[in-house]
Order: sequence, then structure tokens, then C-alpha cells
Amino acid sequence: MLLLCCCFVQLLIHLVSGDVAEGDVEPLLRRKEFVTLHKWSELKLGVPEGYQQPPTLDANRYAQDKLLPVDVDVEYGDDGYHRTFLTIPRLSHGVLYSLAVVADSDNSTLLNPLLVPYPSYDWHSSFGQNCSSITSAIRTFIDDCWRLWVVDLGQINGIQYCAPQILAFDLVTDQLIHRYVIPASQYTPGVSIFTALAVDIDDSVPKAECSTAMVYIADPWGYGLIVYDMSRGQSWRIQNAHMQPDQQLTQDKTGSSGIFTVSISPRQHDKEGGDNAERRLYFHALNSFLEVSVPLVVVNNASLWTQLKNTETQNELLKEFRIVGSRGIQCESEAMDSEGNLYCSLISSSALIAWKENSDYDSDHLKVVAYNPDRLRFVTGLKVNRNNLDEDELWALSSNPELFVGGSVQTDDIKFQIIGCGVKNLLENEPCSVVINHLQNTINYYKEH
Ligand SMILES: *[C@@H]1O[C@H](CO)[C@@H](O)[C@H](O)[C@H]1NC(C)=O
Ligand SMILES: *[C@@H]1O[C@H](CO)[C@@H](O)[C@H](O)[C@H]1NC(C)=O
Ligand SMILES: *[C@@H]1O[C@H](CO)[C@@H](O)[C@H](O)[C@H]1NC(C)=O
Repeated sequence: MLLLCCCFVQLLIHLVSGDVAEGDVEPLLRRKEFVTLHKWSELKLGVPEGYQQPPTLDANRYAQDKLLPVDVDVEYGDDGYHRTFLTIPRLSHGVLYSLAVVADSDNSTLLNPLLVPYPSYDWHSSFGQNCSSITSAIRTFIDDCWRLWVVDLGQINGIQYCAPQILAFDLVTDQLIHRYVIPASQYTPGVSIFTALAVDIDDSVPKAECSTAMVYIADPWGYGLIVYDMSRGQSWRIQNAHMQPDQQLTQDKTGSSGIFTVSISPRQHDKEGGDNAERRLYFHALNSFLEVSVPLVVVNNASLWTQLKNTETQNELLKEFRIVGSRGIQCESEAMDSEGNLYCSLISSSALIAWKENSDYDSDHLKVVAYNPDRLRFVTGLKVNRNNLDEDELWALSSNPELFVGGSVQTDDIKFQIIGCGVKNLLENEPCSVVINHLQNTINYYKEH
């Protein structure tokens, strides 16, 4: 799954050479100290009190060292209260639960905080026997209606037990409020593993915005985009050449991954009449240097994708997709902030780049906003979460890449870390800060050691 480095690091160095701080260890790169929220040298999931260890998880299969969290979300409540969500898909046997939250009692523990199942262990304990519960959560998204959206793969260890599904939980009550099962024609059993989930609400409909949602899911090994319209209760699949890997970048070792990310332009509240006609959906294939976009109104128009098309209309639709540009390097996880800045972590380069939509996608406008070989490793989850002051914060789940290629990792090495930075700090090259109060101590800890 993991792609190895490509050979355009020179380009990267060229990009950042404008910002040289005196006395820097890496004079050409702008090293950024992220705030570390939590990190794990050892990740363990425990059977909650009052429950038996499931018999299906015998000692051999109960391989906790195979746990690979892939996604992260930070939820801010009032008064600075926060919760941190992780997905740990059941890519192998032995994953007790695939959607977890850092235990409240450990919400300010830096190293190896305890995880607890979300919303409860009962949701995870059927191991593919009850398709209405969670089989294998892989991606989450928190929308502006206090909903946690979850995409469930339905697979355990590559075997499709249940159809993939989209779930939404109310973050105030932690109750399920919506469920949609993806139709068989829109995914490939055992192949469709979703790497991105984005949700958009229509806030031009006062009071009704939270009864709607458009959900977008990337299927990188099936080379398609799944779009779900909650108000119609209908989904459709979009597939074309832009979602496929670049054949020249798919050597044996590197896999061949197509559309890997989904990001959506922010709403343009300042525009007359709240016109959203210009909003776009951005994506890229992992095995590609290209960033691609398409108007959101086109993607959202069910009739364009659900009716049979002749070649001519198919070609017309293909023309709606625009190559934004080439970065000459691969990037993995991507997220967009509420000002239209698109962030992407570069593969094997320990760097995060930013580009503002509607500017040229070239070396003058692609900026390296952070570089840190200890923090930015293999970024499997990247989110822009809104804090309680209504500011955007960027959060990443960064893993030791060895874990994803079956390599060995020293037992006390940091395997996974959740790192964050205010979006404004990144763009203005300031020290990272986030709202979560106890982190002030963490920052001081780093200064002292
Ligand atoms: C941590 O959890 C406790 C409950 O155990 C809560 O009172 C507190 O506000 C939380 N702190 C943060 C910063 O979220
Ligand atoms: C299946 O899981 C759902 C969600 O956890 C639950 O409400 C339901 O009772 C379960 N069904 C059975 C037969 O256990
Ligand atoms: C969807 O596309 C069809 C065909 O181009 C068009 O007639 C229709 O107006 C579009 N619907 C919306 C809501 O944009």
C-alpha cells in the first residue's frame, strides 16, 4: 500500500529555499514543531469491564501488534472539552474495535493513552455477524451539525462480511442518527477500501441544513468516487481515467492506487446570493503527480451519473474534470480549510504543502508550510477541525511507515502520533498552537527536554 519515495525532492528543496532561518539544522527546510496531542509506543485495545474476550479472538489471532490506526478527528465541545477519535480498521484479525476514542480519564496523557470503543463495545462485538453494527470503521468526518460520519468497510482481514455502510452519530447524544448501506453495484467486495470521506451540508437552507448532507468517499483500488445524497436517500458512483493511477508510477513495489483523497471548496458566504456554483471537488490518485478538480454541482447531480450514457455524453462529462496541475511529487492525505487552502502531506519527504484554490498550481503557489522528519512521517489521516473559537486546526495521524510495509519497529519506538497546528500558524509560519488547554504543558515539556 505504501508508496516509496520518488525522485523529486530537489523540487521540494527548491520550493522552500526562500525561507532560510539562521542557525537552522536543516538550513533549506523550515522545520516546524507540531503540538503532539497523543503518541503511542504501544497501542492496546482492551475488552471493557463486564465483557468476555470474544472467543473468535484466540491468542494467536489476537495480535495486538498488528493494530494500524489510520484516521483521526478532534471534536471540540464547549469549555475546551475535547474528544479524539481514531479508526483502526480490521485489516487483520485481532482488532477488538475499529472506532475508538481516547478515554476521558486519559485526555491529557501524552504517551500511550487508553482508548475506549465508540459509541460502545456492543457496536463492535459481532465481528461481521450483525451488519447493522460496525464491522470495520475506516474513515470519519465531523460536520458542522455535530455529527460524526463513519464509513464502515464491512470487511475483516480482506473478507467482505457485510456491505460497506455510511453511519452518522450525534456527537451530543452519541446515538446513531443515520445509516445508509452502499449498494452492491457501487463497490467491489474485498477490493474497495476507502481512504477518504468528506461531508458537505447545505447551509443555505436555514434550520434544515442538518437534515441534509452530501457524502463523498474515495475508493482508490476500485478507482472510483461514491457520492451519497442523504436527502434523496440515493448514492451513485463516478469513475473515469482521472481516478486511475499513472501507469508510469506503478512499479511492482509501489502498488497502484487511484483516487485517494476528496476535498471540497468552502462555501462562499461573502458572495452575492450565497452562490456556490463555483465550488469544486478536489482529488488526486496516490500514484500520480496530478491534482484534479470537478465542479461540485456536476458531481452532485444524480441524473448525470445514474442514467445510461452514450459515448458522446460520457465525453462531455469527462470534460468537466480539470487537471489543476502537477506537483512533480506524490502526496498522500489531503484536507482543505475553510479559506480554500488545500494541504497535502508529501510521501517520504516529511513535509506538508499548501496551495490556495484559484491560484496557479505551480512552484510559486505550492508552499511547504511544515517540515519535520520526527513528526511528519507516514500521514494516514489529515483533518481540518474547527476549535471552540471557530478557528481551523490541522490534525494529522502520523505513523512509523515501517508498520505499513511489514517492517520491524523497536518496541519503545513511537509508532503513532497525533499532531496538530493552527492553520493560521502554518500559513503565517508561526509556532504551532492549538486550543486544547493541557497542551501548553506538553509544549513546555518539549522546550525543557
Ligand atoms: C478531560 O476529561 C474530563 C472528564 O474526565 C473533562 O472534565 C475535561 O474537560 C476533559 N479535558 C479536556 C481538555 O477535554
Ligand atoms: C445489531 O447491532 C445493532 C447496532 O449495535 C443493534 O441495535 C441490534 O440490536 C443488533 N442486532 C442483533 C440481532 O444483535
Ligand atoms: C442536472 O443535469 C441535467 C442535465 O445536464 C440538467 O438538465 C439539470 O438541470 C441538472 N440539475 C441540477 C439540479 O443542476
